[in-house]
Order: sequence, then C-alpha cells, then structure tokens
Amino acid sequence: MPEFHRVASVGDVAPGSGIETAAGGRVIALYNIDGEFHAMDGVCAHAGGPLGKGIVAGNVVTCPWHGWQFDATTGHHCLNSNIRQATFVVKVEGSDVFVQIPRADD
Ligand code: FES
Repeated sequence: MPEFHRVASVGDVAPGSGIETAAGGRVIALYNIDGEFHAMDGVCAHAGGPLGKGIVAGNVVTCPWHGWQFDATTGHHCLNSNIRQATFVVKVEGSDVFVQIPRADD
C-alpha cells in the first residue's frame, strides 16, 4: 500500500513557489500553486536537475539546470507529451503537508 509521508509544513512553501524535499527514498518537488499543493518527482527527466528548486510561474516550473518546463499540476513536459514526471497525491492536515509515495512492492 502507498504510504503518506509528512514532507513539509504549509508555511514552508509560499504560494507561487516550490521546495525540494524527500520521502520514501524519493526526491520530491513540492509546489504551492495558488494555495493548492502539488508534488512530483524532483529529479528532472532530462539530466537529473533539482525541479524543486526550479522557477515557478503559474502552473509551470522551469528546471534550473537547462530550462525544461513542466506543468507542476500534472508532471507533463510543456513541449513534449512523451515526457512526464511522476506525480504524487498530496494531502494537507492542519499545518502539515503529506505526500503519498508508492512502495517498491506496490
Ligand atoms: S536537468 Fe532539467 S532541464 Fe536539464
């Protein structure tokens, strides 16, 4: 069964920004898009750049290494529909943000 992992406090991620965090052995990019939290694989599909440290503009996050852009709400690359970052279910309880990470045997 996938498990929820606490990855941040609500106040750690200002609206219109993201952070890099880790849970369940994965690097997670966690974004606050207009007050709603979204999480995707934080390791860029291009060359492993830190997507949690990317620039956020609307729904779009730009990788800080070479500029690939992804929709932070879906994980889809903005120009190539064949490229998609894994995304994770997020829930907020009180002031805590949790991300659901599949286990290796799920
Ligand atoms: S590593 Fe992300 S664009 Fe190259």
